[in-house]
Amino acid sequence: MGHRDLVLLLCSAWCVFYVGRCGAELQSSQTQVLLQLKKHLEYPKQLEIWRDRWTDLCSISSSAQVNVTCKDNFVTELTILGDKPVKGRDFDGFAIPNQTLSQSFSMDSFVATLARLTSLRVLFLVSLGMWGPLPDRIHRLGALEHLDLSSNYLYGSIPPKICTMVNLQTLGLGDNFFNGTIPSFFNSSSNLTVLSLKNNKLKGPFPTSIHSVTTLTEIDMSSNQISGRLLEFSVLSSLEELDLRENKLESELPAMPKGLIRLFLSRNSFSGEIPKHYGQLNRLQKLDVSFNALTGTAPAELFSLPNISYMNFASNMLNGPLQSHLRCSSQLRFVDISYNRLVGGLPSSLRTESENRVVKSDGNCLSGSVQH
Ligand SMILES: *[C@@H]1O[C@H](CO)[C@@H](O)[C@H](O)[C@H]1NC(C)=O
Ligand SMILES: *[C@@H]1O[C@H](CO)[C@@H](O)[C@H](O)[C@H]1NC(C)=O
Ligand SMILES: *[C@@H]1O[C@H](CO)[C@@H](O)[C@H](O)[C@H]1NC(C)=O
Ligand SMILES: *[C@@H]1O[C@H](CO)[C@@H](O)[C@H](O)[C@H]1NC(C)=O
Ligand SMILES: *[C@@H]1O[C@H](CO)[C@@H](O)[C@H](O)[C@H]1NC(C)=O
Ligand SMILES: *[C@@H]1O[C@H](CO)[C@@H](O)[C@H](O)[C@H]1NC(C)=O
Repeated sequence: MGHRDLVLLLCSAWCVFYVGRCGAELQSSQTQVLLQLKKHLEYPKQLEIWRDRWTDLCSISSSAQVNVTCKDNFVTELTILGDKPVKGRDFDGFAIPNQTLSQSFSMDSFVATLARLTSLRVLFLVSLGMWGPLPDRIHRLGALEHLDLSSNYLYGSIPPKICTMVNLQTLGLGDNFFNGTIPSFFNSSSNLTVLSLKNNKLKGPFPTSIHSVTTLTEIDMSSNQISGRLLEFSVLSSLEELDLRENKLESELPAMPKGLIRLFLSRNSFSGEIPKHYGQLNRLQKLDVSFNALTGTAPAELFSLPNISYMNFASNMLNGPLQSHLRCSSQLRFVDISYNRLVGGLPSSLRTESENRVVKSDGNCLSGSVQH
């Protein structure tokens, strides 16, 4: 072998090595899966950049709409944000032109294709017009840590096998048409921190199994038809935000964990008094319990919590006088106590002119106010 041949050999060996290892080139089977997904999604214009199987899909620069991240020749993160936001709250399970994908779209075959991206850790498929029941085989994406399918036209039940996805940290299924009951999903081996099922048509009781997922920091199940009673939330020691607005819940207000920051329980049928210990939720910033059937008085301590900025008690049956020397937190910007049965005088700290804050107190029997 001549000198020149040796150089040539070394050079081509280097080329093979370089292209194979350093090019971050996607396995061709993974590229094919992505191109099939593009076909399933009926060629949205955001995916025009995925030209053909010779395009290196990992190194196309990402945008806010489309983002593919790869590791060791496998897709690990896939984000596609479409431009088909859900319009209206009626969907009868049939394709709607210009809103959902066509009648020939099949969520089943879409997820079957998707499940071949076995290394996926992050999957965001939002506002793409996907419609149909969410197939149980979604759980085969066992490496997923973040799953967001919000703002589509998914209906039926949430597949119970989602609870076997033990790596899942955030789950977003909001703004869809899920209309089953919420399965008793999770147990203590779940690592879920954020759960959003908001704005669906979920029925039945609040799933008590949620109380064993102590990693949860945020739960949003607002705007559904969840009914019945709530158990104590104090066991969820990491919980910072609970949003159960606009449901059909009808217990007394449950106990809350010490670290809670935002609590939204408006437009349900909660009754009884506001628990005294809410006045010790030191980190609380926002509290909305408006449009319920609460009685008794509001704990004075709530008004002086160090970071409280928003409090809404409107349209309940709170009664009695407010403490005349009520002390308010300097952070407090909004208080609505209107349409209750409060009597007596409005404490000086709540007179609108006294500080940079909005106070609504109409519809009570407060002395000095116009309405009685
Ligand atoms: C794409 O995803 C990667 C990994 O999560 C992230 O670091 C990057 O900011 C994303 N790019 C855009 C434009 O969102
Ligand atoms: C859920 O919605 C679908 C599509 O509108 C409908 O066919 C189905 O009967 C509904 N199921 C329940 C339990 O309401
Ligand atoms: C759908 O969009 C196309 C193009 O924007 C328009 O020509 C067509 O009339 C729309 N169809 C419906 C049913 O809105
Ligand atoms: C929790 O659920 C997972 C998945 O279904 C299961 O593998 C595990 O054994 C369950 N753990 C407990 C403590 O029940
Ligand atoms: C859950 O998270 C903890 C800490 O982040 C980790 O040690 C554990 O392996 C995770 N469990 C699962 C099933 O992923
Ligand atoms: C109040 O808010 C400030 C600023 O966000 C924060 O640093 C502080 O820890 C909060 N205090 C409590 C008791 O949560």
